[in-house]
Amino acid sequence: MSKDHFLRIPKEVTDMLNQQIAQENLSSFTYLSQAVWCERKGFQGAAKFLYHQSEDERKHMLRIIYYLNELEAPVAIPTQQKGAAATSYPSLHHIFTSVLQNETKVTASIHTIVDYVLQVKDYRTFSFLQWFLEEQREEERVAQRAIELFDIMGNDGGVGLYEIDKALGKLIEEDEEKENAMEE
Ligand code: FEO
Repeated sequence: MSKDHFLRIPKEVTDMLNQQIAQENLSSFTYLSQAVWCERKGFQGAAKFLYHQSEDERKHMLRIIYYLNELEAPVAIPTQQKGAAATSYPSLHHIFTSVLQNETKVTASIHTIVDYVLQVKDYRTFSFLQWFLEEQREEERVAQRAIELFDIMGNDGGVGLYEIDKALGKLIEEDEEKENAMEE
């Protein structure tokens, strides 16, 4: 049996992973666009949060690309966004509600791939996806916490938004520290 045989993964799995690459790419650009809006509006903490998330999404995309490359499977690099990322947003609260919705959607998408790879006994990809399952748990937790800050501090402008912005910056700093500790 040739070496290549062991490196193959089902075509359907390759397609699903390529769709996931597109999803991570879109998330990265959407968070980038939101970060720009926040920075222009003076929400420095929220901008820091979203720039960081945008970078994370790019890393997620690269992680899948490296995996497919390792297996010599086809990789579809997204060169065009399906829909241009919005550049204007109704409010800070609206942005963070959409972040949580997006992360929930990404989790559902990862779960769909996990379901499929188990069904077709692609244990290699199942093992690869464990990291994403854990990452999504953490990303949803942070996005949920961001929404809680609005609930706790109020979402009616003035001091509430100022404090929320500061807390969002601190939230992402704590997340970064955690990530760095895990990488050490
Ligand atoms: Fe890569 Fe936040 O999903």
